[in-house]
Amino acid sequence: MPHSVADDTCPPLHRHRYDVLIVGAGGAGLRAALELQRAGKQVALISKVYPTRSHTVAAQGGINAALGNISEDNWHWHMFDTIKGSDYLGDQDAIEYMCQQAPRIVRELEHFGVPFSRLDDGKIYQRPFGGQSQHFGQSQATRTCAVADRTGHAILHTLYQQNLAAGTQIFSEFFSLDLILEDQRVVGLVALEIATGQWHQFQADAVLLATGGAGQIYRTNTNASINTGDGLAMVLRAGLPLMDMEFWQFHPTGVAGRGMLISEAARGEGGILRNGLGDAFMANYAPKVKDLASRDIVSRAIATEIHQGRGCGPNKDYIELDLTHLDAELIKQKLPGIREISLTFTGIDPITQPIPIHPSCHYMMGGIPTNLHGQVMTQVTSDANGENQPVAGLYAIGECACVSVHGANRLGGNSLLDIVVFGKAAAEHILNQTETRTETAAPAKLSNLTIPESIIARMAAYQADKPKTNSGDNHDSVVTFKRDLQKIMQRHCGVFRDQTTLVAARSKLAELEQRLLSLPLHDPAQAFNLERIQAFECENLLAVAWATLESAIARTESRGAHARDDFPDRDDQAWLVHLLFFNQPERRLSQKPVQQQPKTVAAFPPIKRVY
Ligand code: FUM
Repeated sequence: MPHSVADDTCPPLHRHRYDVLIVGAGGAGLRAALELQRAGKQVALISKVYPTRSHTVAAQGGINAALGNISEDNWHWHMFDTIKGSDYLGDQDAIEYMCQQAPRIVRELEHFGVPFSRLDDGKIYQRPFGGQSQHFGQSQATRTCAVADRTGHAILHTLYQQNLAAGTQIFSEFFSLDLILEDQRVVGLVALEIATGQWHQFQADAVLLATGGAGQIYRTNTNASINTGDGLAMVLRAGLPLMDMEFWQFHPTGVAGRGMLISEAARGEGGILRNGLGDAFMANYAPKVKDLASRDIVSRAIATEIHQGRGCGPNKDYIELDLTHLDAELIKQKLPGIREISLTFTGIDPITQPIPIHPSCHYMMGGIPTNLHGQVMTQVTSDANGENQPVAGLYAIGECACVSVHGANRLGGNSLLDIVVFGKAAAEHILNQTETRTETAAPAKLSNLTIPESIIARMAAYQADKPKTNSGDNHDSVVTFKRDLQKIMQRHCGVFRDQTTLVAARSKLAELEQRLLSLPLHDPAQAFNLERIQAFECENLLAVAWATLESAIARTESRGAHARDDFPDRDDQAWLVHLLFFNQPERRLSQKPVQQQPKTVAAFPPIKRVY
């Protein structure tokens, strides 16, 4: 049974023991928790926010599965599209597993109670999305299963309710600070209870990170403000690597000047992108699939149109998404969410007027490297291509993880799929592992854990009752710090990059590193001290920014979402490899081979991507 006691260590800690800790209560964390809790494990689900506020709630367009409800489909075509969309950086065994599992996992969601939109014959509604094809690139597929344009919302709420029914213990509004390792095994973590300012130590046989993305490193993004890379930074501080961090997806259609998402579903339902001349310009960039090319291609096309002076508006600095030719009833039924977003944030009703849009940072293809079971992988030696092995006791799933099914560019609709497929897979592996372990080893005792000095120092660094306001002349704040970081990343590491702008960002991030050392807090409260949480988040964002920048400098080619003006071509000879970034004990990069061989079907060797 889990139990909790207070002790008199400094600072005081409440101690808990569970079988499994899951950090993050989005779709990935909830799916894993459900599997484990139903199998009889004692699960603690630790979340920075109330679970239904997790960022999965913002996923709009749908979840991919080759159900073939509207037109013929086949999971091999889904696999081919995902590998091609990844610009061949995705691991083909992981992609194979995900696409094969997809139909079963979507039907399982249906049985959990996800209220999918329906066809007249009662089957799940599916819509076309970018980068999807039938017969290995021949014609457009219709593969994205949808709940109108609120698919993530429906999945998140359903999984939350199933967890309530299963009895999962949820620690809502707990901020996870750091992992605790003993003898190179992850045995727990330290977390801050936001409501009280009290510290907690959680101990478990397995810790599963499902902390989502970090899109807040960019000024313009579609991400919730909670997406600050907390799990990624915890992993870096534990001396473990992040993988492929140079690959950030800019969604083509964020609301211009605001960033929030206007779903690809809008183009799937027939919406058209137009430049300032009224031209449907995607025909010039992807003559065959036009507006439904993969996202890296569409985002670059939009950026190019604007850069070459063909943008819309007085400053020619945005593009328009035109839905005015669509039936008003279709928009109301299939795209109610994006209509509401447009009305709320631009005052424009897409039934009668086009929506001003601009690419907006949406998704992190890189993350914590894992194998197919969600086990976090590291390299044991520090030479360029060290041996890869799992970290005992540590798992990662969802956007914070890099398994890697998205490679250099994710296809729309594959993110919701990733979180449920690998949420379930990791839980199944934990069940097998822990059953085996308890036969041979006694479970760790609650009293055995000691908190390392480095973590105690971090706990003390932003003590809420001792704000660093007395320095007088330091007018810095968590708000200006974060904004400055976002501006640097937006300017130096955006849709297009080159060596000069990337390298110039190094000294700017180093300046931020110095500022962080004396970042003042102004709020002395213990209860709900969000400034203190934001200070920790700033640290995490900076760690993710370093990983992104150093990886982007190193990769001297263009692949997927990583577009280098100075190296415009893909270079498979040199760069068909994953990049690993370590921040400790020193900042360094290493490489890991791409898995180019699936388990059951023939490999898809790299071809030039033409759409
Ligand atoms: O455009 C969208 O609805 C986003 C979907 C996704 O990122 O998978």
